[in-house]
Amino acid sequence: MSNAEAGILTAIVTGGAAGLGEAVCRQLAGRGVEVMVADRDRAGAERVANECGRAGPKSHAIVVDLAAPEGPARMIEGALAVAGKVDILVNNAGIGKGEAFLDIDAASWDASMAINLRAVVLAMVAVGRHMRERKRGRIVNVTSPASRMALPNYTAYAASKAAVDSVTRAAAVALGPHGILVNSVAPGMMDTALQDKTEREFAALEGRNDFAAFVAERTKRIPLGRRTSCDEVAAGIVWLALDAPGYITAERLNVSGGLDKD
Ligand SMILES: NC(=O)c1ccc[n+]([C@@H]2O[C@H](COP(=O)([O-])OP(=O)(O)OC[C@H]3O[C@@H](n4cnc5c(N)ncnc54)[C@H](O)[C@@H]3O)[C@@H](O)[C@H]2O)c1
Repeated sequence: MSNAEAGILTAIVTGGAAGLGEAVCRQLAGRGVEVMVADRDRAGAERVANECGRAGPKSHAIVVDLAAPEGPARMIEGALAVAGKVDILVNNAGIGKGEAFLDIDAASWDASMAINLRAVVLAMVAVGRHMRERKRGRIVNVTSPASRMALPNYTAYAASKAAVDSVTRAAAVALGPHGILVNSVAPGMMDTALQDKTEREFAALEGRNDFAAFVAERTKRIPLGRRTSCDEVAAGIVWLALDAPGYITAERLNVSGGLDKD
């Protein structure tokens, strides 16, 4: 009997090879979900899929560049080929680049939008067509507190995440009649490779040589007074993907220690 016939839930997690996505993969596997780790990092995706397979049902690596126009549709095709169905999509993959507003150019703008926004939309379109047939599905998009801030050294990133908020609302309305829930999670500061890279870029742009002091100041501004972990934020994503009442859609769950206040 295949997993699909056995009723095991299947999930795609984009950017599952590291950071927040890896934590989501591990928690879903621990809850008995068949996980598809979608990432451009082959070695990382295979490592996480193998580890998930030891904790839960067989998991799979899907190696894909989601910034390529055809990447998201190929990912969904690949997932259907290995698992036969997709119950959950977590759109987590993203990039960020600290750059001064007056240094923005077309290439860096397009690079942010391709993965942070277009891939999210195209993945929802491709998986939404499949979920519509099955009249069920849950999608969780990863946004950011940055989406609501004026960030002159992080404009493309903040704009891409503001657009993720917009497309989450649109998709929730479009897909709701087909039994598909679409929500988002806004994580607080997690010490991942992305966070370290961008904070170093911010420090340089602000002329701050003492990186540790710079990071401590940023952390102090968080109302709960501490950074969060990938596991803490992943728990919010997994709750929306598996446990949240079926009447919650178009919602944004802030797991940001008070950075976001609604
Ligand atoms: N780290 C934070 O503090 C923070 C805060 C708010 C929001 N977020 C968001 O959380 C999400 C995860 O961030 P993270 O900190 O874990 O980042 P990360 O850099 O640690 O991991 C991102 C993963 O996405 C993959 N990826 C990037 N571009 C890809 C592409 N074109 N195709 C396929 N895979 C690709 C990378 O290979 C990597 O495995 C992102 O959407 C980010 O914007 C992070």
